[in-house]
Amino acid sequence: MDLEKLLTDRLAPAFSAVAGVPVDPVVRRSQRADFQSDAALALARRLGRPPRSIATEVLERAEVDDLCATAEVSGPGFINLTVAERTLGGLVSALATDPRLGVPLSPAPETVVVDYSAPNVAKEMHVGHLRTTVIGDAAARLLEWLGHRVVRANHLGDWGTPFGMLIEHLVDLGEAEAAHELSMGDLDSFYKAARAKFDADEAFRERSRLRVVALQGGDEETLRRWRLLVEQSERYFLTVYDLLDVTLTGTDFHGESSYNDLLGPVVAELDRQGLLRESDGAACVFPPGSVGRDGEPLPLIVRKSDGGYGYPATDLAAIRHRTGELGATRLLYVVGLPQRRHFEMVYAVAEQAGWLTPPARAEHVGFGSILGPDGRMLRSRAGESVKLVALLEDAVARATALARSRNPELGEAEAAEVGRAVGIGAIKYADLSSDRHRDYVLDWERMLSLDGNTAPYLQYAYSRIRSIFRRAGVAARPDAGVSLAEPAERALAFELVGFGGVIAEVERSLEFHHLAGYLYRLASAFSAFYERCPVLRADEPVRDSRLVLCDLTARVLRQGLDLLGIRTPERM
Ligand code: ARG
Repeated sequence: MDLEKLLTDRLAPAFSAVAGVPVDPVVRRSQRADFQSDAALALARRLGRPPRSIATEVLERAEVDDLCATAEVSGPGFINLTVAERTLGGLVSALATDPRLGVPLSPAPETVVVDYSAPNVAKEMHVGHLRTTVIGDAAARLLEWLGHRVVRANHLGDWGTPFGMLIEHLVDLGEAEAAHELSMGDLDSFYKAARAKFDADEAFRERSRLRVVALQGGDEETLRRWRLLVEQSERYFLTVYDLLDVTLTGTDFHGESSYNDLLGPVVAELDRQGLLRESDGAACVFPPGSVGRDGEPLPLIVRKSDGGYGYPATDLAAIRHRTGELGATRLLYVVGLPQRRHFEMVYAVAEQAGWLTPPARAEHVGFGSILGPDGRMLRSRAGESVKLVALLEDAVARATALARSRNPELGEAEAAEVGRAVGIGAIKYADLSSDRHRDYVLDWERMLSLDGNTAPYLQYAYSRIRSIFRRAGVAARPDAGVSLAEPAERALAFELVGFGGVIAEVERSLEFHHLAGYLYRLASAFSAFYERCPVLRADEPVRDSRLVLCDLTARVLRQGLDLLGIRTPERM
């Protein structure tokens, strides 16, 4: 149980009785005591009473004696609460025997669709795809762990006019050669070669145009070649997911093309509802509230003037499918911030059309860009966007070299395994520990450092705890009594019992930097504890109590990092 909530539940009725209206006591961790409430100060004006007298009356009415060692009014009218050692020790003991570490399963599990990764067929995955893949995967892991039914939707870009030129290029190359190039992850050269011919060669352009018509018309030979492109690309993307250690599999591809048959009906339904308006030959919806800079209403184009459907229509069909067929009530779109306007408009139209009605709601889980050391969009030396695999391989190579030099006792295979866990972990953590709404700078030095708010620091803290148990050949007894006489023990205990509150917050906000920040505070509190409090050399019953604290810290670190998609090697 979350202490903040426990204390809030005790203070709230007293505050409400004094104020005559419901009041949030705003209980927060504090330097002065363990917790502090400053709600009396905010109430003073409204009640026309000095805040100290409000706080005093609240404390007379509140029942906190069984939880707190002291509860007093301080300063201008703060309520300072010091938690009793017995209370805190009891909470830690309860965690020790709880396989879920104080995080309950959701009382109201939902079907949640997480739309993430979504690369485009026959196009390389660039660092731009890193954030959606890493953040989306963390969301899927977290929500699943909380008991929600999670549908991973990899909205693969597998349809549209570029497929005309891509298929013609495949015809020119020969299928075997094309398949080879694509499966080797040579997607960029394939795409660029097709593009170059398209730009330079009038005849190729004409073939491509006809090929698009054949594709849309369902020509069998064309579809077979298109499928070849899709399959080879999917196969390649799966190797990237494997390297990146994300949970996406082959069954999670729900490409744009899978909505093709629904596009006509979607637009027809919008028409029936009287929502369509024609603008320059295109069929549009003007959702309320969407206006451009000039104040003019903005259209969402659902059918282009050439009769084709595009990205917006596909997203509308996907929403209708997700709420209607899959029964989802929470739709997450982990896509970069530049697409914010697109999603706002799509959601607004879906609401108007009745495809997105409470309790169902959609959220754009947007994110900023990854910047290079110069503070500009990350680019390769040749000035091109950086291939995601290259970045990942670089991270693993650097981390493996570091692992070898730091611990020469690691065998070749173990060093490789540690290098992979640390390298990939460092990349993911650098991303997830940054506020996703902002850009961040990719800094190798910092993210691979063993100090500071980094994956290696947390992984190292974990492996160090495991080595305590390994070296001593002992295990923690979860039923051992917990004593918290030392300040460093108390500080660690407060962090441990705070895990549930952080997870509940991240379940709502999907701001994983709060979870990262928490794990960092936990590891730091552990490190301070371990410096000041001998564990194996302590006498019983303190030794057993401290072993429980060590074991719990390791378990929370492991679980928390696992939710972020980061591995915890036993040795580093
Ligand atoms: N493939 C798109 C892109 O690369 C992202 C798709 C995002 N998901 C969606 N449902 N629109 O920009």
